[in-house]
Parts: sequence; structure tokens; C-alpha cells
Amino acid sequence: MEIRKNIYSVRAVDGGIRIFHGYETPVGTTYNSYLVVDERVTLIDLVKAPFADTLIKNIKAVLGGRPVDYIICNHVEPDHSGALPEIIKEYPSAAVYGTANCEKGLRAYYPGCKYEFVKVGKCDTLPTGRYTFSFIPMPMVHWPDSMSTYLREEKILFSNDALGQHIGTGELFDGELSPDYLFDRAGDYYANIVLPFGAQVKKLLEGLRDLDIELVCPSHGVILGRNTPLMLQKYAEWLNDKTDDNKAVIIYDTMWGTTRKLAEKLSEEYAGKGFSVEIINLSERHHSYAMARLLEAKYIFVGSPTLNNQMMPTVSAFLTYMKGLKPKNRVGLAFGSYGWSGESVGQINDVLASCGFEMLEPVKAVWNIEN
Ligand code: FEO
Repeated sequence: MEIRKNIYSVRAVDGGIRIFHGYETPVGTTYNSYLVVDERVTLIDLVKAPFADTLIKNIKAVLGGRPVDYIICNHVEPDHSGALPEIIKEYPSAAVYGTANCEKGLRAYYPGCKYEFVKVGKCDTLPTGRYTFSFIPMPMVHWPDSMSTYLREEKILFSNDALGQHIGTGELFDGELSPDYLFDRAGDYYANIVLPFGAQVKKLLEGLRDLDIELVCPSHGVILGRNTPLMLQKYAEWLNDKTDDNKAVIIYDTMWGTTRKLAEKLSEEYAGKGFSVEIINLSERHHSYAMARLLEAKYIFVGSPTLNNQMMPTVSAFLTYMKGLKPKNRVGLAFGSYGWSGESVGQINDVLASCGFEMLEPVKAVWNIEN
């Protein structure tokens, strides 16, 4: 699909994937790869290994028998590099461009694959004829090897995982989606992938400030045109853990309904104070959904009954996941029911406190509470 004259999307759409390394993708995703045709031909980012045939078919539909000269690998993670062995088999003379960490990763992931690797950093460029690519390393957005690539003549930023969204329903440009939906999916992606790296995202945004950007071509989801300024503004808010002081998310699991009743009572209480409240039962929703919903919430309440002297495994999994994603500047509350020993509430309280949250008084119930 032509994005602009000489510039093509040769992506693979993975509309059926529902769990992406532990993260729920309710509408699938895409693995975006871009082809820039000039005196020399450049392929930017690849796709997951099972989609290598699709990528090669899409490249050949543009190039016919002409070879790919350069492969820019913005990121080693296998959803963007898995097709490398097949691509090198098809285009053995293509040189691969990436950061020093990218080379380490690629050599380790694909030891049998032979190719020339050219290390690049922020002062390097790759001229291809009428076009020149420049490189913007963005370490830990979200891996050490990550970088973006800028095509000045066309004002296009190939941003890799930054500014992406897991949307695998076939749309190519942001204008094909409602802004609410686009930013909901982008927020889900930020909360589950980018959130721990606020300081690094800040550096990246500072580095992009002086670039003239008309299109952002990320490695997942749709290409950003008119929504680019708002997406950059959203990132600036998310990286600072800017939250809504009147928003609470109540996340829980329950055995015989008492912890559910506690969740509902807390919801009524906070709704009565003017909060917008969302309740999420972890038996019904994936922990990554809960993570996305708390991205902009100041108040995070977590509940579990005590089961075998522990919190329920769904709640434990959620807390482990959330703690790793490092949300900051939140207010926490632990709640739950028990029959005799009642350890779960204290355990939840400890985890929330260890995240640096300001803690409210825990709420407990023995056996049952009135409706
Ligand atoms: Fe989309 Fe970090 O891979």
C-alpha cells in the first residue's frame, strides 16, 4: 500500500492475536514494515517470523525482482525482527542498520543468519539518492536497542514502538478511526508497554521537538497524520503520570461475593463524592485491561478475599504486573473479606505501599456484609 510516492507500507496484519506476550490485544495488531524506494531501496523494520512470507510477498508486489539494499532495524524484539533470516535469504546482499545494542540482539537471536551490520547513532545518516535517513536512538523506549528513523525530505518519523497502538482491524491511517478510539488504544498500549520509561520518553520527545513531522509511521497500528500533535501531547501527560484526581478504579476478585460487595460499596461511596468509578473483576477481565484503565486514575483500590492464607492468584498476578509497570503518584486502598486468618488485605496493602502509593485505611469484612 502506497503511503506517499515511493513510500509503501508492506506490513502484516495479525488480526487474530489476542494475547501478545501476556498483554491482551482485543482487536489484534499489525507488524508494520515500510519500504522506501529510491536509487537504493530501504526496508524499515520487519515482521514477526510467521509473517515473513506476507512481508516478502508485499515487498515483491512493489519491487518485482529489484533487491532490497538496506534494512533499518529500529528494534530487536522478535515482532519486528523475526523475519530477518527469511529476508536475508531473499536479499542476501542487504546491509542491516541499527544501534550497537541492536547488533548484539540480532546476532544472539539469529546466530545462523549472515549479513553485514552497520552500527549507527544519532550523528549518522544513510543517503539513498534523493533521500537521507537519520537516526534517533531512544534507549529503553522500550528496549536498550530501540531507535527511531527520520526521513527529512518527506517529514516522516518511523517511530517503531513509540506512539504505536495494537489495532489489527485493517485501517492504515489515523483518519480512518475516531479520535476517542485511537487514543483509547494508544493509552492501552502506553500503560502496558511504555509506562515504566517516562524519563526516557521525555528525552525522546525533547529530541523530536526540532523535527518537522508530518507523518508518524509506528511499528504497530495506524500511521499518524493529523493526530500527531495530540498524540505527542498525550505522551507528555502520560510520561508525567498525570492523573484525574476524581477518577477511581476498583480492581478485585471474589470467592463467595463478599469482596464483590465491598467493591460495590466503595464504588457507591466514591461515586457519591463525585468520582468517576470503574469496577473491574479480574475473573472477567484480563490484568492488562485493568492496567490500561488505571492509566489516568489517581485512586487505585485492590481487593481479594483470603484463600489459603494468600490473596487470590488473579489479584497477585495483577499486582505483580502493575508493580513492574511502575505507575506513580497514586492513592491506594486494599480491601477484602476473610473467614478466619485474613492475610490478603495486608499483603495487598504492602504491595501497593511498595509502589510508593499514598495509602488509605484498608477495608475488611469477616464472612459477609449486608447488601
Ligand atoms: Fe513491538 Fe518492543 O516490540
